[in-house]
Amino acid sequence: MSAYKIIDHEYDVIVLGAGGSGLRAAVGLSEAGLKTACISKVFPTRSHTSAAQGGISAALGNMGEDDWRWHMYDTVKGADWLGDQDSIEYLCKEAPKAVIELEKYGVPFSRTDDGKIYQRPFGGMTKNYGNGIVQRTCAAADRTGHAILHTLYGQALKHNTEFFIEYFALDLIMKDGECKGLIAWNLNDGTIHRFRAHITIIATGGYGKVYYSATSAHTCTGDGNAMVLRAGLPLQDMEFVQFHPTGIYGHGTLISEGVRGEGGYLVNSKGERFMERYAPNAKDLASRDVVSRSMSIEINEGRGVGKEKDHVHLHLSHLDKNIIESRLPGITEAARLFANVDVTKEPIPVVPTVHYNMGGIPTNYKAEVLTVNGSEKTVPGLMAIGEAACVSVHGANRLGSNSLIDLVVFGRAAAMRAAELVKPGTPHEEVSETETEKCLARFDKLRNANGETSTAELRLSMQKIMQSKCAVFRTDKTLKEGVDEIRKVYDGMESISVKDKSLVFNTDLVETLEFDNLIRQAITTVDSAYNRKESRGAHAREDFPKRDDEKFMQHTIAWCNGKDTKIDYRPVHKTTLTNEVQYFPPQERVY
Ligand code: FUM
Repeated sequence: MSAYKIIDHEYDVIVLGAGGSGLRAAVGLSEAGLKTACISKVFPTRSHTSAAQGGISAALGNMGEDDWRWHMYDTVKGADWLGDQDSIEYLCKEAPKAVIELEKYGVPFSRTDDGKIYQRPFGGMTKNYGNGIVQRTCAAADRTGHAILHTLYGQALKHNTEFFIEYFALDLIMKDGECKGLIAWNLNDGTIHRFRAHITIIATGGYGKVYYSATSAHTCTGDGNAMVLRAGLPLQDMEFVQFHPTGIYGHGTLISEGVRGEGGYLVNSKGERFMERYAPNAKDLASRDVVSRSMSIEINEGRGVGKEKDHVHLHLSHLDKNIIESRLPGITEAARLFANVDVTKEPIPVVPTVHYNMGGIPTNYKAEVLTVNGSEKTVPGLMAIGEAACVSVHGANRLGSNSLIDLVVFGRAAAMRAAELVKPGTPHEEVSETETEKCLARFDKLRNANGETSTAELRLSMQKIMQSKCAVFRTDKTLKEGVDEIRKVYDGMESISVKDKSLVFNTDLVETLEFDNLIRQAITTVDSAYNRKESRGAHAREDFPKRDDEKFMQHTIAWCNGKDTKIDYRPVHKTTLTNEVQYFPPQERVY
């Protein structure tokens, strides 16, 4: 028996994570009369959704003609034909409804002169299947995620979602392949809690902190993804890591793509607007993988700016001051604070910076988690949404502003599906103590680790390896080095040291648990990348520069047990949900 006192809870549904997707799901579940708990390691309004700047995509057509089918085409193309077209159809068709719903909940969107939601251009968003730029990204200045997060938290409270704040989730409770809930540690008083639920929805976000330079918050450690791996389930498409073109040089803070949407542009040391060469039509508004690669080529070929020639400049001083003040106030402040730049006079130094994980927990468009055993199978009792999930609508590369819409469309879909599956108040089955004991044994082992290596040292080694060996451009050699070196870091866990043994706000132990989560995802990422011998979207192999649809128009499925992985593939869905749109067959991807 465990030495810890365990406090039991029973809910119809629990949501792990209180970012945009978790809160949107919680609102829908509570509205449907399901007894719902939302468990989060940070205060909900501090979730990483608050950092989303430029906007949320939906073909509202407020700034000229638009159509959800054009949005679907752009997303399929942006994803480099690795997205599941049934899920993409669902995303783009439901997007306008989901945004209008947010407006009704009270999100303070920026407005056009005639009172409609303001929409700005964003990378890869076009009209009429690639013929011209469209304004599709709905914005609340450049603080859209912040506005959505605060509004959804208010709505969740209004609908009586019960919150468990500053609870760190440790592991899922699985029984015969079904999920029965999870176990969490209350950071505030040190108690251990067992949450039983008919459905557990994972909404824990991405795992950007496996990299050294990322726009992600320190909390982005993919805790739910790692819980899924420890439950013996796979993750999907982990090799696809998005580098946002404009992280502030030396700091990593995001400078929104909205800057280029409003007319900003990138320049190299020769003063050239180099994107004209790489993407003659879309230029600075090509998709992110294309812009990040172009910037890396400029830098690698000696045309970077600064003493080290290792970044480029983002110009916006030519923009009307009123536009900068009203539509870009957040990045104006970030550039002043973190780069000491007055954007009305000087360019911002920027460099491609890790921003988003296209890979994650495989799900269908109803947010049900899938496993693969020859064919796809749903995992009863388990759902995943938001950046933690891989639906897969973003495929090999996500378009800017398709993340916020993914959060609310699939948060809403999860709530609707759960309401179909669960009758409020259904009694819970007993679960054996074995899963709890196993989970607490891992917790105890890390808490009592008395080695000589600090968690910070191991984390830094992992981040540096990922940054250099699994970067924008990859080769067999760098990836193989990554595969080997990351395992040495994993082995370092045998001598890890946790100095603080207490249970109340023990940040030493929190960071160690987070590291244990991160390292499994780092291994899965680099192994998946090593095995994909083609270039597609954000996965650019110098030794395999072409996309290979015959062999690799498939999702990577990766299981990870300790440092051992098993890699398999499942075909991309090539069908649409309805006959309102036709399947888009693969094409050459040019902007
Ligand atoms: O550039 C941005 O504002 C980020 C948006 C996104 O990642 O969707």
